[in-house]
Amino acid sequence: MRKVGIIGGGNVGATCAYQVASLGLADVALYDILEGVPAGKALDMTQVGPVFGFDGRVEGSHDVSVIAGSEVVVVTAGFPRKPGMDRMDLLRKNVEIAQASGEAIKQHAPDSIVIVVTNPLDVMTWVVQQSTGFPSERVVGMAGILDSARFSTFIAMELGCSPKDVKAMVLGGHGDSMVPLPRFSTVNGVPITELLSAERIDALSDRTRNGGAEIVKLLGTGSAFYAPGASAALMVEAVLNDSKRLLPCSTALSGEYGISDVYLGVPIHLGAGGVDKVVELDLDQGELEALKASAAGVASGIADVQSLAAGAS
Ligand code: LAC
Repeated sequence: MRKVGIIGGGNVGATCAYQVASLGLADVALYDILEGVPAGKALDMTQVGPVFGFDGRVEGSHDVSVIAGSEVVVVTAGFPRKPGMDRMDLLRKNVEIAQASGEAIKQHAPDSIVIVVTNPLDVMTWVVQQSTGFPSERVVGMAGILDSARFSTFIAMELGCSPKDVKAMVLGGHGDSMVPLPRFSTVNGVPITELLSAERIDALSDRTRNGGAEIVKLLGTGSAFYAPGASAALMVEAVLNDSKRLLPCSTALSGEYGISDVYLGVPIHLGAGGVDKVVELDLDQGELEALKASAAGVASGIADVQSLAAGAS
């Protein structure tokens, strides 16, 4: 059986582990700093095997060497923002975690493809790539699949149609500046611009941009995890099967779309080697400006990380 490592046994990591195991994609190694919790969740998931009929093993540990030999490693570890913490405090904490994750991956799974889920997503994907030292095509961030799934969901709800037929596309950074692309979003091939008014599309795009915050508000504590975990599992599947699916993922850009030196959500073909190819859509001026503004936001996040590092040395 092939092996997938997951760093971070919170709700997103555990949901992803459960998806990977229950789809029969691979054995799963779930690591978390907490003693007992990853082993307990792993044992619980393993006991679904006889119920649903899958035979992959899920192992949990607070020793990170549990991920040794993984072909794919998913990084979900991170701190949620606590009261009294400002954005830079949170960034500092999560940079430390992302760097430690990257170093552990380099040591224990040196040939793996890495999928990053920790927020702020595009910046943390860059941090993990830097700390693994892996070629950038082997470190990819998960956000576009989630954001596109949210857009698809809202389109399906609006039209009263099956979400299975909706294929939406959202590019850019995972945050307020993300770029929903109605022209590239269809219901079984029919562009949504043929089915919905511009006003309704704008409203659904806004709801998509706030999709994470809407769930945070409803939950009261914590953030979304079913769709984020599933979206990461979809990327795991594309890598393990070398399926080269076209998916919006956070990718290191070097000149595509006129953007360089940032990780940003764009369509890629995802396969066994990670990013097989970046797909350059023919964006109109407004779309391209929005994408560049989003890239500027990620670049300033990377600059914040660099200033933290400079302050620490
Ligand atoms: C979200 C957070 C978890 O979008 O990034 O739900």
